[in-house]
Amino acid sequence: MSQPARLRAKISALSTYVPPRVLNNHDLEKMVETSDEWILTRTGIRERHIAEKGVATSDLATEAAKKALAQRGWSPTEVEVIVVGTVTPDMLFPSTACLVENKLGAHGAWGFDLSAACSAFVYALQAGAQFVVSGAHKKVLVIGADVMSSILDYTDRTTCILFGDGAGAVLLEPAEEGEEGIIDFLHEVDGSGGCSLYMPAGGSLHPATRETVDQRMHFVHQEGQAVFKYAVRQMADLCERVLERNGLKGSDIDVFIPHQANKRIISATADRLSLKPESVIINIDRYGNTTAATIPLAMQTAREEGKLKKGSLVLLASVGAGFTSGVTLLRWAF
Ligand code: UT7
Repeated sequence: MSQPARLRAKISALSTYVPPRVLNNHDLEKMVETSDEWILTRTGIRERHIAEKGVATSDLATEAAKKALAQRGWSPTEVEVIVVGTVTPDMLFPSTACLVENKLGAHGAWGFDLSAACSAFVYALQAGAQFVVSGAHKKVLVIGADVMSSILDYTDRTTCILFGDGAGAVLLEPAEEGEEGIIDFLHEVDGSGGCSLYMPAGGSLHPATRETVDQRMHFVHQEGQAVFKYAVRQMADLCERVLERNGLKGSDIDVFIPHQANKRIISATADRLSLKPESVIINIDRYGNTTAATIPLAMQTAREEGKLKKGSLVLLASVGAGFTSGVTLLRWAF
């Protein structure tokens, strides 16, 4: 007896949202000892979007999700699962997914948050895809959203210049017969890198106290060079392994969508993989590092530039705090 065809998941809608307020490098020059020239040459960032006080991750996530649902013509009540990748949930609990369910009116859906820092979008994408592949669900909403400005120390020039706020949402559903959708993925964590990029307080180890606030422990702390070295090696390594096991070369990739942490990390990866220069999507100049939102924001840029089309062979890649890392190979479906 022949086996039933394996279910595949595909992305069938994409939408993004960034808060309107822009903070550019010249604004930062007035806040810390830095320069537009330093930020631009070391990172590739010119400006980033920053949420107003009182605007939380669930607000950005909901805006992105609403537009994605409208694009596909799904009513919020049709959504079965909501997965939100974030390191800046509105609060520790309830989860951002619960808040988004309520704000969207996605009654009937269940959901959860996924914490994987800059790899959160690729991890959430895969978590959502597994529900489709297993046959458990047919309509999944995956969101990457962060309000990084809520955990940045705007007196620390080594971190505050890097990040911005934003959200991106995709819809997942079963691929039609003959469609490839999500083809392969490879995820890794290396927990020994945890101390290189973290927010020390606010969890069970260091609950909020006057001391944790005085010691600025509720902000992002990063050893930039350690993360940089790991990211340069790991992003290319994972990509190479996924390409190789699928019988592909870098030049076969139509659209390379990397996490946007530093333009130099992206360029080093692109060089090592011999990617076609026009396939490499970079928008860090406009958004900075939006953590869980960089990959959907870069997908949107690729759409706007006319590069991401039905049938494009796409490689997503991320490395971030944890260390977490992930690569996804997919065929764009719309
Ligand atoms: O998405 C999460 C994962 N994160 C990443 O992938 C980030 C990876 N790391 C990086 O992108 C880079 O390491 C940074 C952009 C964070 C820093 O660039 P770098 O080339 O590694 O600089 P550095 O840390 O080696 O610092 C070089 C110099 C230092 O001064 P001295 O010691 O040479 O006098 C810093 O104090 O630059 C100084 N510096 C700055 N100067 C002006 C650090 N930050 C600034 C600044 N403006 N904002």
